[in-house]
Amino acid sequence: MDIVVSGIRPTGNLHLGNYFGAVKNFLKMQEENNCYFFIADYHSLTTHPTPANLHESVKQVLAEYLASGLNPEKSTLFIQSDLPEVAELYLLLNMNAYIGELERTTSFKDKIRLQPDNVNAGLLTYPVLMAADIIIHKAAKVPVGKDQEQNLEMARKFARRFNHIYKVDYFPEPKPFNFGEELIKIPGLDGSGKMGKSEGNGIFLYEEDSSIRKKIMRAVTDSGPTEKNQEISEPIKNLFTIMEQVSSTDTLEYFKEKYANCEIRYGDLKKQLAEDVIKFTSPFREKINAIKADNEYLRKVAKTGAEKARESATKTIKEVREIIGFRKFY
Ligand code: TRP
Repeated sequence: MDIVVSGIRPTGNLHLGNYFGAVKNFLKMQEENNCYFFIADYHSLTTHPTPANLHESVKQVLAEYLASGLNPEKSTLFIQSDLPEVAELYLLLNMNAYIGELERTTSFKDKIRLQPDNVNAGLLTYPVLMAADIIIHKAAKVPVGKDQEQNLEMARKFARRFNHIYKVDYFPEPKPFNFGEELIKIPGLDGSGKMGKSEGNGIFLYEEDSSIRKKIMRAVTDSGPTEKNQEISEPIKNLFTIMEQVSSTDTLEYFKEKYANCEIRYGDLKKQLAEDVIKFTSPFREKINAIKADNEYLRKVAKTGAEKARESATKTIKEVREIIGFRKFY
């Protein structure tokens, strides 16, 4: 049983791409590991210092992950800001994190381009907080996508450096948990690339039927096949990829054959796809809404998670204080 840690952005509403990617992996991981999954609400302040609805965003994302199958009895599910210990470890790690290395990280460089009027210290030290999140539970593994690889590399560095500076073998170096090839990549509806939030090409689990229908009917296609067994263009391949996940084999075969015979009508394909996507997502939406309405359940989940996470975090903080040399007079 490895210890696994992963943070979730409070703005990270789940779309089909996330569901078939990260979430499916979380579900597999929680069966085989000791997982700590948390909503990174401290981190979100680095980009939105005065969030209008921080609590609502956290609640929404928590409900979405619960509805998708994260099981609070199997994993430790908590809110980052319920763990003040992580802020303390962040402070201590900051003493051994150097401005130069922080300034050189790509995510920092990207962020200062995106928000030149708010280049705050939290943005600079984002990887330090992330390292604290991970090593406070002495994680062995962290599931990471491409965009988080460098942050994880920094976490490894800070763990190693702590051990070196204080001459201990205390923090393990967290390894990337890469699913790589087995991952199903869900494309967006805009013809190329994968489904993402910022790209605006996603279908969200919480989305209303009418909105899903509209998005799919507007999806990019091409002018249609003109000769038999012609190579399929990317926008159409993408629609078939989504269909593979949500539709029956019969439906898939039916439209593939229509395509092969140049008889396909994209309008029919999209109509069918929209209904099948809705059939797939609507139980999630119902579950999300039911969970959001159940404050007592959410209270219990967040409280139990915070308690479990704090157990491991307080132990680490106590030991780290001893290692560094803090001692009480009383
Ligand atoms: N930086 C991650 C993201 O943007 C979120 C995150 C915060 C995280 N702390 C973490 C991920 C610790 C893994 C482990 O998606």
